[in-house]
Amino acid sequence: MAPLSGALRLLYEGKSKRIYAAGPGEALMVFKDEVTAFNGRYRDEAPGKGAYSAALTSRMFELLESYGIKTHYICYAGGNAVKIRLADVIPLEVIVRNYVYGSMKKRLPLLKEMDKLEPPVVELHYKDDRLGDPLLHPRDPVAAGILAEDELNAIEDLALRVNNALSSFWRDRGLTLVDFKIEVARDNSGFMVVDEITGDTMRLIDPEGRHYDKEVYRRTRSTELLLQSYVRLLEAAGNPSRRC
Ligand code: TYD
Repeated sequence: MAPLSGALRLLYEGKSKRIYAAGPGEALMVFKDEVTAFNGRYRDEAPGKGAYSAALTSRMFELLESYGIKTHYICYAGGNAVKIRLADVIPLEVIVRNYVYGSMKKRLPLLKEMDKLEPPVVELHYKDDRLGDPLLHPRDPVAAGILAEDELNAIEDLALRVNNALSSFWRDRGLTLVDFKIEVARDNSGFMVVDEITGDTMRLIDPEGRHYDKEVYRRTRSTELLLQSYVRLLEAAGNPSRRC
């Protein structure tokens, strides 16, 4: 793909990517090389990270589509860019947990790190960086008019289907999916999965407990070690096949 020129209209800029308008109803999601942790307190350039994230996200969306799960993915545009359909994103972060880790252990010390959660736990968080994406009571999104009554079950069902697809994909490659976050949008036929699926948004560990996710950077602050893990993830996953 030709380098992005200034002619593309920036629609949105977040911590890890920019979204540019790219024709009617379509956009380019362009991943940054930046890595941040602890709410932006640590920040580093990790050259190549954007391309690994774009390729892995594309591969993960192709996997979900092979399971009949709708996503906003159109094709992998090469380098750090993914072509997507523009969609009406719901301001929720949906987290699925197969094992206890991170903020769940902090809020509920009755649980120990890596206790198995059977069935998996699905959490809804309100997407607002200033508030630190607070965990919601399950009925909050209905009360706030973000979700209709029947959509509460539909979103949980979707999250668990995504969990089945991702867990079995990574299990086949020797890694355990501890937890992950997805974002969801609506179109006229229901929900679809949007945003990214990368080592920044899922925790993956090998049988020795080694991480292949952002935890590597959180613990070591080393961009080299993080990039090594992300290269391994992409090698294990394989490249996306739908190119544009
Ligand atoms: P969680 O344990 O809630 O938070 P933290 O990573 O700060 O300990 O994270 C659960 C999963 O969700 C983990 O795989 C990382 C992912 N996640 C995001 O992608 N974005 C976020 O803003 C948060 C809070 C989590």
